[in-house]
This record gives sequence, structure tokens and C-alpha cells, in this order.
Amino acid sequence: MAPSERELPRFDPTMPNEARVLDFIIGGKDHFAVDREAADKILEVAPDLPLLMSESRKCLGRMVRFLAQVGIRQFVDIGCGLPTRGNVHEIAQAAAPGSRVVYVDNDPVVVAHAQALLVSNDDTSVVQADARDVEHILAHPGLTSLIDLEQPVAFLLVSLLQGIHEDDVATGIVKRLRDAMAPGSHLAIAHAISDTCPEVTADLWALFRRGSTRGEPRCNVRNKAEIDPYFDGLELVEPGVVHLPAWRPDPGEPTVDPESVWVVGGIGRKN
Ligand SMILES: C[S@@+](CC[C@H](N)C(=O)[O-])C[C@H]1O[C@@H](n2cnc3c(N)ncnc32)[C@H](O)[C@@H]1O
Repeated sequence: MAPSERELPRFDPTMPNEARVLDFIIGGKDHFAVDREAADKILEVAPDLPLLMSESRKCLGRMVRFLAQVGIRQFVDIGCGLPTRGNVHEIAQAAAPGSRVVYVDNDPVVVAHAQALLVSNDDTSVVQADARDVEHILAHPGLTSLIDLEQPVAFLLVSLLQGIHEDDVATGIVKRLRDAMAPGSHLAIAHAISDTCPEVTADLWALFRRGSTRGEPRCNVRNKAEIDPYFDGLELVEPGVVHLPAWRPDPGEPTVDPESVWVVGGIGRKN
């Protein structure tokens, strides 16, 4: 296995944690007082975040069902977050029994919860790793025991890349994954964007920066034109990279104004 050079975060109930803050915002139960305080500040700046997150989970469900329909049976969900309703393995295995799903996250709390949930599911595994260490992830036994990279695979990067603040690092992660994909593989990305409400995203960015232990940026809400190149060299599945509610909504699904959700996403296929 390629070594990881990075120190992974440790469990720390005294510091707000991205996955636990988001869990609070979507009404989960895995959070501490410090996460709730952080969430309250975030919601003051971006009160529509619960809508964004619920639309994001709905879109993830549609994307996974689409991928199962086009024959994908191997899924790697990087930056998977705390288990919630409609996890990737539940959707994929309901659509295509026997689908194999590997969850990757750098957060020890996410990994512990995911392991507990998946203990009796032989077709899933959980890897604790930093997304920046793509080689380490691809060679990890937790991945190689389930995923054959010679066969089509879907890599899912749903609201992960905005947490990778260096542009060249984010681009490098995506490029390495694209290179590793066999023909017929797919890459799904969702990313918050700054185009729709720049004031809100600028305030959020400043808040995250202030909340960071060392004052360094912890997120980068890019603009739409910066997301499109992640799909370079891939064939974009219709309708392309769009605001999430506009990505193949199910017939009869209650609709919200797509522009009100400042997260875009899409799927690219490697031919
Ligand atoms: C915004 S949440 C998204 C969760 C899930 N994909 C979703 O859409 O509901 C981002 C997740 O990425 C994880 N994460 C952030 N930076 C990461 C990194 N460098 N490597 C691996 N995971 C990371 C966080 O721990 C968190 O669980």
C-alpha cells in the first residue's frame, strides 16, 4: 500500500467538526455542543444550508440510481460524511444487488459510525484516509478487497472538493482519479459555487477561516467555471454540470428553484 504522508485528524469533542456540524444541520444525532454552536453561526450566515444539504442528498440518490442503471457495480464515495438516510450502499444495492461500495473519509468519527453500520454488509468497506493521498486510497486493502480498478467504477466526490482549499491539489486529486478509471467508469462531483450568492459564500468562507485552529482556510467555494474542468477528458452525461435540483429530477419530484441551490454537480463518463 502506498504510504500516507499525512496526519489524519483525531477525535476532538472540543473543536467543531465538519461532519458533526452538518449532521446537526440535517437533524442527525451525532454532534456535541461545540458543533451546535458552530452550526448556529453558520446558519446565521447561510440559513438555506439545510435546503442545500437535503437537495444534495436527493441528487446523490438520483446519481447513484443512474450509475446503477448504466451498469456500474463498484462505487467509491470519497468524503462520504456521517451515515444518514439514503447512504450510497443502500441505494446502489437496492438498485443492483451485489454492488460493492467503499466509503472514504478522513474523519475518525465518520469512520467509526460507518464501520458500525456496515458490520454485517460484506459488500462494503470503510477506509480512513485523506483524499489528497489518492495513491494511498487506491492501494488500500479496504478498497482493493472490493474494487477491481480494471473494471468500471464510479468515484463520488459529493461536497468534498470545496473542503480542499488549494486549487492545484483539488485538480490533482480529480486528475489522478480520472487516470485510474477504466473505460466505462464514471466520476460524479457536486461542489458549492460562489456565482449565485457571492456575499453569502464570502461570509461563510470568512467564518470557516476564523473557526480554523491555525487560521488557515478550510474551504474554497469556487465558481462554476472552475468546476467544469474537473470533467476534462470525460463525456458529460446530460444535462451536464448544473444546479443540483436540475440534475435529472425524478418525474413528479417536488421541485425547488434550481438557482436557489448554490451547489452544482454532474457526472462524466470515461470512454
Ligand atoms: C460536506 S461533507 C459531505 C458529506 C457527503 N458526501 C454528503 O454529500 O452528504 C464533507 C465530508 O468530507 C470529509 N473530508 C473533508 N476533507 C477531507 C479530506 N481531505 N479527505 C477525506 N475526507 C475529507 C469530511 O470529514 C466530511 O465528512
